[in-house]
Amino acid sequence: MAKLSIRIASFIIFFSFSLSFNTSLCCPNEQKLALLQFKSSVFNESISNSSLDIPIGGVESWDSSSDCCQWDLVTCNTRSALRNVVGLDLYSFVISLAPETVVSSVVLEPLFQIRSLMKLDISSNFLQGQFPTNGIANLNKLVHLDMRENRFNGSIPPQLFSLKNLQYLDMSSNSFVGVLNGEVATLRNLRVLNLDENFLTGEIPTDIGNLTQLRRLSLRQNRFSGVISKSFLQLTELEVLDFRNNSLSMEIPIDIGSLSNISTLALSMNQLTGEIPPSIKSLSKLVTLQLENNLLSGEIPTWLLDIKALKILNLGGNHLTWNNSLPVAPKCMLSQLSLKSCRLAGLIPFWISTQKNLDFLDLSENELEGTFPRWLAKSNLGTILLSDNKLMGPLPPPLFQSLNLSVLALSRNNFSGELPKNIGDTTSIMILMLANNNFSGLIPKSISKIYRLLLLDLSHNQFSGSTFPSFSPKALLAYIDVSSNRLSGQLPVNFALGTRILALGDNEFSGPLPTNLSNLSQLEHLDLHNNYITGNLPEFLAQMSSLQVLNLRNNSLEGQIPNALSKLSSLRILDLSVNNLSGRIPANIGNIVGMIKTPNTFTLISDVFTFSIEFSDLILNWKKSLQGLSSRNLEIYCFLDLSRNRLSGEVPTSMGGLTSLKLLNISHNKLSGSIPMSFGGLESVESLDMSHNYFSGKIPWTLANLQQLGTLDVSNNKLVGQIPMGSQMDRLNDPNSFANNSGLCGMQIQRPCPMTSPPKSPPRSVVAKSDTWFSWNGAWVGFPIGFVSVLVSAYFSGYLTLKPRRRRPRSIRK
Ligand SMILES: *[C@@H]1O[C@H](CO)[C@@H](O)[C@H](O)[C@H]1NC(C)=O
Ligand SMILES: *[C@@H]1O[C@H](CO)[C@@H](O)[C@H](O)[C@H]1NC(C)=O
Ligand SMILES: *[C@@H]1O[C@H](CO)[C@@H](O)[C@H](O)[C@H]1NC(C)=O
Ligand SMILES: *[C@@H]1O[C@H](CO)[C@@H](O)[C@H](O)[C@H]1NC(C)=O
Ligand SMILES: *[C@@H]1O[C@H](CO)[C@@H](O)[C@H](O)[C@H]1NC(C)=O
Ligand SMILES: *[C@@H]1O[C@H](CO)[C@@H](O)[C@H](O)[C@H]1NC(C)=O
Ligand SMILES: *[C@@H]1O[C@H](CO)[C@@H](O)[C@H](O)[C@H]1NC(C)=O
Ligand SMILES: *[C@@H]1O[C@H](CO)[C@@H](O)[C@H](O)[C@H]1NC(C)=O
Ligand SMILES: *[C@@H]1O[C@H](CO)[C@@H](O)[C@H](O)[C@H]1NC(C)=O
Ligand SMILES: *[C@@H]1O[C@H](CO)[C@@H](O)[C@H](O)[C@H]1NC(C)=O
Ligand SMILES: *[C@@H]1O[C@H](CO)[C@@H](O)[C@H](O)[C@H]1NC(C)=O
Ligand SMILES: *[C@@H]1O[C@H](CO)[C@@H](O)[C@H](O)[C@H]1NC(C)=O
Repeated sequence: MAKLSIRIASFIIFFSFSLSFNTSLCCPNEQKLALLQFKSSVFNESISNSSLDIPIGGVESWDSSSDCCQWDLVTCNTRSALRNVVGLDLYSFVISLAPETVVSSVVLEPLFQIRSLMKLDISSNFLQGQFPTNGIANLNKLVHLDMRENRFNGSIPPQLFSLKNLQYLDMSSNSFVGVLNGEVATLRNLRVLNLDENFLTGEIPTDIGNLTQLRRLSLRQNRFSGVISKSFLQLTELEVLDFRNNSLSMEIPIDIGSLSNISTLALSMNQLTGEIPPSIKSLSKLVTLQLENNLLSGEIPTWLLDIKALKILNLGGNHLTWNNSLPVAPKCMLSQLSLKSCRLAGLIPFWISTQKNLDFLDLSENELEGTFPRWLAKSNLGTILLSDNKLMGPLPPPLFQSLNLSVLALSRNNFSGELPKNIGDTTSIMILMLANNNFSGLIPKSISKIYRLLLLDLSHNQFSGSTFPSFSPKALLAYIDVSSNRLSGQLPVNFALGTRILALGDNEFSGPLPTNLSNLSQLEHLDLHNNYITGNLPEFLAQMSSLQVLNLRNNSLEGQIPNALSKLSSLRILDLSVNNLSGRIPANIGNIVGMIKTPNTFTLISDVFTFSIEFSDLILNWKKSLQGLSSRNLEIYCFLDLSRNRLSGEVPTSMGGLTSLKLLNISHNKLSGSIPMSFGGLESVESLDMSHNYFSGKIPWTLANLQQLGTLDVSNNKLVGQIPMGSQMDRLNDPNSFANNSGLCGMQIQRPCPMTSPPKSPPRSVVAKSDTWFSWNGAWVGFPIGFVSVLVSAYFSGYLTLKPRRRRPRSIRK
């Protein structure tokens, strides 16, 4: 939607093509041949790779027997005597012709023979490879070149910069690299230079100021750094200046006010410093001012609201402050306002009620107090973000009579009382986040009537009751978090069939796992920890093949761990700890594919992102940490915790094959036999806890292979012999981790081993390493390898600590 809106808002086309036909004239034969050659090379590339029979995309009419001026997608000149091809609208052409096919950028080359072209739109075709340089310089009549949304890579061909008549150049959403060099400056007639969403790097050159005709300059989503040369202030015709999402580190030039025609000044997501310069006051045509997510400081001047044309004012995410005691009488009519984290204190400013066109309001991360104002509840906004403030009291029912409200985020305040019964009247709401407040009472049944609801976060409140709203299987609701409340009764199962995340943990749900849970076949994340779930771990769980996270920690499950669980090939976090599970660990546990080779698609997170990006410039703050985690290495989300059960017998050797595991905890069970040698294969493991079992024999020397190991606990077993040495093992010298065994020795616990029983010698490489790394004193230096990531992933799955969380006292439980 963001892209769409950019496109809608996209710059005015500076010329128009007249479409009329003169059947008595044909297009030049060489142009027709060039087009046919283009068509057949696209076909040659695509047909072989797809089963597509029927040509679509508008090229059905392209056949050699007809006049190419009559073809779809082709525009010819009607004014001159020669009917030359002047326009080609090949937007989404290849993709509709051959979906999911990789088509090389060389297919474009024939088009470069059509020297009369003025407009060439090849956007959204996902063409791959370098933009062809061969012949592009022929197109010196080109005014409009749109190459958005392809997969062009490499550098921008310098030949492009010889197209002197170019007025519109859009290169967004590609993968170009390199430095935007001085050659751009020779494009004296260039009026629009749009290099959006590529990966251009380097500083923006001084010669940019030579492009005095530019009306729109967009370098959005590149990697420009440093300072923009002041010469850009010579671009007095500029109407749109869009440098969003680069790494510019500079102050906003104090004489920015000389760009008097500017209507959009979009500099968000850079590292701009300094204050908002006073000269902005003179930009009387300014409609959009986007400065959010920079390092700007100082007090936000109230005169900004005197700019009559202003509609979008986004200043959030800086070090700016807003003095809420200053009198304000806005002369503008804003549609968007973001004053996120602007140290706004006191009541929600009343002047906002004068902004009758307001659709988007972000006042999150401030120090706002008082209750939710009635005027705001009645204001029909589309998006209200007030998370992370000190607001309190109940929500006014009129808020839920709005038919426009689509995002409401009030998390981490002190709102209280029951949710209005009429909450289901807001049929438009898509995202409802009320986490970490003090709401109580029942979750209103009407909430299940909200057809568009996608994300519901009611976690960390005081909601209670034993009847959960029943959602239609066809509902859109995909992300549900009601954890940490006081909900009780049977586990609810009436959710949308497309549910992805279901977090019901830390409540008082009881009874067995309902069979109908397995209807939720898209479920990726099922978190039921800290409840009173009883009965066996059912086989049907194995049918939920999308499961990536299964957390049943701290319930009362009993019986064996079903063998079938290893069929859950996407599973990467499995927590069955603190239950009454008994019997052996299934021998095939080592078959859980997701813990061996963690897939590199973590749809759980990326999906949250996809829909958060749909709202232009809205970055949702759902579960705070989720967002922060998304950019990290994905393989960190992998662990297995079976601790604090009654599991017995030997540990299956196959467990050592779970090479992606970061954390393995089998402590506090009744496991016996020896620790498998295969554990030396847990190459990613950072935390390994086998304590409080009946393990006997020696600690296998293979553990010295575990280069990531930061925590090892084998205490309270019956282990004997020498603690292996080498690599990380040398640093694991906490005596508590080895305590209460039947005769362990080694330098880690400062207990020399008797000479009579030499340890099985470790492989030579490990010995060599231990020589250089070994040191008694600096032993802790190596400890934190990757440990932070374990903590992070632990937090992600809902734990605050790696140790079992203390249950809050409960009367019903013995
Ligand atoms: C169509 O072409 C004929 C010559 O073949 C010319 O006389 C006539 O003016 C053209 N009409 C248009 C609308 O260009
Ligand atoms: C397409 O393939 C056919 C036969 O495979 C070949 O004759 C023709 O030259 C090819 N066309 C192009 C443009 O590569
Ligand atoms: C088409 O598919 C074949 C085999 O499936 C592959 O080798 C070839 O690279 C593909 N062509 C393109 C252009 O992707
Ligand atoms: C561009 O993409 C093509 C195909 O995807 C690849 O073969 C080539 O190495 C890439 N070139 C650069 C400079 O990344
Ligand atoms: C840009 O303009 C400056 C001053 O007019 C001139 O010295 C410089 O050569 C120009 N650069 C290019 C690349 O034309
Ligand atoms: C910013 O640009 C980078 C690429 O340079 C991209 O990965 C990222 O998603 C962009 N962020 C936003 C919020 O658009
Ligand atoms: C600004 O826009 C107006 C009207 O579009 C135009 O006449 C004028 O030349 C532009 N340039 C400057 C520097 O004002
Ligand atoms: C805010 O404005 C009021 C009224 O002008 C003034 O008394 C107060 O000192 C200002 N507060 C800050 C923090 O600047
Ligand atoms: C709801 O939003 C639409 C479009 O943004 C707007 O036209 C309409 O006036 C709004 N409705 C109300 C009641 O504000
Ligand atoms: C939250 O609000 C309640 C009254 O509703 C009040 O008693 C309590 O002190 C507030 N808590 C905080 C942390 O402000
Ligand atoms: C929740 O509200 C109750 C009164 O309704 C209050 O006593 C309690 O302090 C509030 N909790 C928090 C965390 O503010
Ligand atoms: C369980 O799902 C079936 C359909 O698969 C449905 O008919 C039945 O009513 C559901 N039971 C409960 C308790 O929701």
